[in-house]
Amino acid sequence: MDNNSPPPPSALNNFRVLYLVTQLVGITIIILVSCWIGIHLNGLAWTSQPGIQFNWHPLLMSVGMIFLYGNSILIYRGFRYARKKALKITHATIHGAAFVFTVIALVAVFDSHNLARPAPIPNMYTLHSWVGLSAVLLFSLQYVFGFVSYLFPGVREQLRSSYMPVHVFFGIAGFVMAIAAALLGLLEKAIFSLPNYSALPAQAILINAIGLMYILYGGLVVFLVTERQYKRHPLPEDVMLLTHSSSTGTS
Ligand code: HEM
Ligand code: HEM
Repeated sequence: MDNNSPPPPSALNNFRVLYLVTQLVGITIIILVSCWIGIHLNGLAWTSQPGIQFNWHPLLMSVGMIFLYGNSILIYRGFRYARKKALKITHATIHGAAFVFTVIALVAVFDSHNLARPAPIPNMYTLHSWVGLSAVLLFSLQYVFGFVSYLFPGVREQLRSSYMPVHVFFGIAGFVMAIAAALLGLLEKAIFSLPNYSALPAQAILINAIGLMYILYGGLVVFLVTERQYKRHPLPEDVMLLTHSSSTGTS
């Protein structure tokens, strides 16, 4: 099969099954993190209880930097028969929502350090925090460059298409970094808060299971977004828009 021909229908059947499994794994992550917080970490609170305010951090990072990020990069393939313009707006909107959750998750963790009693906890000293903040910075840059290149009218088609491989590479790199950060954060929290981690209590099993789910979700998303056969092919109406008006930005 040559590079540009549409995939055979059987390839798309496999895609649909894996896409469904990916969604189930993503939803399981959010349920398991909620159970962990509800059962073992005393639930949720805001600045009145900084130790508990922390709990928003893993929950909202799992929703924003993991679940929504993965879903946004899969949108072109999952909804391949929708119009390109609608997909671009959805891609940008879901990434925007992911960013909002991420900012609230960061406020929660910084507050939980700065407002801690009797003394504040230092910020930004762990490997987790460095990898995590790098992922957020990469994500933010990617958003600005993606927005300017593909939603702004008037950018030359040639520039858009030559930037696309860079956009895709750094988009996936940011996602992989977010998965790595989440794993480091999870391990760190387990070591900080479980004095009997080595006895493998129920909480440890839950934490380890969440970690495996992050890896599974990350692996599935990266596979689905990099497999050539699953790539979205332009619809006839995308091509017509492209030939009739290059300023509508269909790339
Ligand atoms: C991709 C997702 C994540 C990102 C981008 C991220 C980012 C960050 C950042 C930047 C900090 C530093 C805050 C400060 O210095 O005050 C931090 C702290 C922390 N995060 Fe995360 N985090 C993520 C997911 C998680 C998860 C899933 C957990 C699991 C519990 C977690 C646990 C922690 C802990 C315990 C701290 C406080 C200690 C430290 O500064 O490393 N994080 N996170
Ligand atoms: C943090 C923000 C962003 C990330 C992480 C990201 C990531 C990605 C990834 C991984 C792909 C490959 C999808 C595939 O091959 O199916 C992609 C495609 C694309 N992105 Fe983004 N993106 C971001 C923001 C944006 C923004 C703001 C726009 C503006 C509309 C945009 C426009 C596009 C377009 C037009 C494609 C091509 C889809 C195709 O040809 O099938 N991206 N993006």
